[in-house]
Amino acid sequence: MAQNIDTIYILYASQSGTSEYLATELNDQLSSSVVDSIENFEKYLNDEKLEKKSLFLFIISTSIEGSPPDAMTDFHYWMTGASASKLFNHENFEYSILGNGNSNYAETYQQASRNVKTLLSAIKSPFVECREGDQAEGNSEEMLNEWKADIKNKLSQ
Ligand SMILES: Cc1cc2nc3c(=O)[nH]c(=O)nc-3n(C[C@H](O)[C@H](O)[C@H](O)COP(=O)(O)O)c2cc1C
Repeated sequence: MAQNIDTIYILYASQSGTSEYLATELNDQLSSSVVDSIENFEKYLNDEKLEKKSLFLFIISTSIEGSPPDAMTDFHYWMTGASASKLFNHENFEYSILGNGNSNYAETYQQASRNVKTLLSAIKSPFVECREGDQAEGNSEEMLNEWKADIKNKLSQ
């Protein structure tokens, strides 16, 4: 893989399966990737894995009143701490985010993915531009495909 990426980790945060499905679709099309629920993030986001250049692709749904899916509770708490900050600042940590939400929930649209995006983008730019799928527009698969094309293109450079 170009860009010296050793492994791609696709971590999804899903309440009712949509982001999990999108993660599986993406995984089918990327070589050297691992797909798992974000609740297992500590298996992948650690010093040992970051000895090699790693691309973390987060697919994050927003749930009731803008909250993260239940499986993301631990990650959401952990990501603001010192150990997370150290790993996010690691030279081998690369990331991008696909948010999944519904713009009919105007006040809390994409709140869970945007919280992660705000935190990470203050540290470094994403590997490729982050995307947002909107269930009200029915464009989640379209956004996934655009995101995937950007990722594959960047990996081939
Ligand atoms: C009860 C409920 C509350 C929701 N609240 C929000 C919200 O506050 N903001 C948002 O952007 N999307 C919201 N959504 C839309 C979900 O993010 C969207 O349906 C998404 O596809 C669910 O993904 P999942 O199946 O991976 O959990 C809500 C959906 C449900 C069912």
